[in-house]
Amino acid sequence: MATQKALYLPEPKVPVVIQEREINEPGPGEVLIEIHAAALNPSDWKIQALGILVTKFPIVLGIDSAGIVKKVGAGVTNVAVGDRVMHVGFRDVKNATFQQYTIAPAEIVAKIPPGLTFNQAATLPLAVSAAVTGLYDRNAPNSFGITPPWEEGGRGKYAGEPILVIGGASGLGQQAIQFAKLSGFSPIITTASPQNEAFLKSLGATHVIDRSAPLPAAVQAITTQPITRIFDAISSEETQNAAYDALTPGGKLVIVLWNLVAAEKLVPEKRVEMVITTFWAPERRELGKSLCAHLPALVEAGEIKPNNVEVLPGGLTGIPAGLEKLRKGVSALKLVAHPQETP
Ligand SMILES: NC(=O)c1ccc[n+]([C@@H]2O[C@H](COP(=O)([O-])OP(=O)(O)OC[C@H]3O[C@@H](n4cnc5c(N)ncnc54)[C@H](OP(=O)(O)O)[C@@H]3O)[C@@H](O)[C@H]2O)c1
Repeated sequence: MATQKALYLPEPKVPVVIQEREINEPGPGEVLIEIHAAALNPSDWKIQALGILVTKFPIVLGIDSAGIVKKVGAGVTNVAVGDRVMHVGFRDVKNATFQQYTIAPAEIVAKIPPGLTFNQAATLPLAVSAAVTGLYDRNAPNSFGITPPWEEGGRGKYAGEPILVIGGASGLGQQAIQFAKLSGFSPIITTASPQNEAFLKSLGATHVIDRSAPLPAAVQAITTQPITRIFDAISSEETQNAAYDALTPGGKLVIVLWNLVAAEKLVPEKRVEMVITTFWAPERRELGKSLCAHLPALVEAGEIKPNNVEVLPGGLTGIPAGLEKLRKGVSALKLVAHPQETP
């Protein structure tokens, strides 16, 4: 049996361990991917440290991947052996990404366009998927449910309408800004540390508010238009409550963690909805397929750019230190591991 190295979390709140496990065969509609870059996400340290999001252990951590298709299952036509691909994995053993090989449904795997490195590509899948789900999922209430820019009539459709992205420098925030630009929103207002202002303007933000400035006053100083769409890429108690204060009645606040808006503030005219990012679920599969088919062209055109990258040394062995670094906080940066370089 062919084996590989994988980073296991045996149970919540214990150290991760590297173990050998089998390399699975792709079933019908699936692909086997050799992972060359796996990005770390806040959920990886949260699962380990807090025991949230996952109920069945042991698991392999990791959900972002960039690599090469090594085998395709029956019926796969959208990708072929040898293609460079990126995708969002699933939180179990067979389908996670802190390992050397993973199995994924071919239809929610996207080709990596020329010019994009594995490191850069690994920063995209989850961040893009979360932003796209929050903006364009017309089948779910926990989204603005607007027309994607890759569909006919979608590009520039929301010209003249404002959007507020809380936490523009985060991985999710960077993608929300870039897709908001493709959708035509204006102004695109975001919050960040002052040192990230120029970077976020290069992505499409029209106004960058210092993250320590009180809302809604800082937004009202920019525009008097109603603020009916807010994407909170941070979703701490502080940012959710500030965002809710900035939301105009009739609007929707999309959050990425559990609702922490103070109960006494909540009114029916101002909705709060939490994004759940998984294209593995049947109800989101069509959105995922559509995104994966169109993302390569958007990236190749430079309209969707990857996050900045720091590569962790030592393959999978570098991940524990990376998770600790992520827990303490990074700024406009994605940490990436190379599973194939595990000693
Ligand atoms: N619901 C879902 O499906 C889903 C999917 C993916 C991720 N998430 C969650 O989404 C959140 C963001 O993930 P990520 O990977 O994008 O995070 P990240 O890139 O690690 O976020 C780091 C950034 O957060 C910014 N930040 C922190 N506190 C802020 C504040 N109060 N105001 C403005 N900016 C602030 C910092 O900006 P500055 O450097 O400018 O200070 C920093 O650049 C995490 O909590 C994650 O668990 C949810």
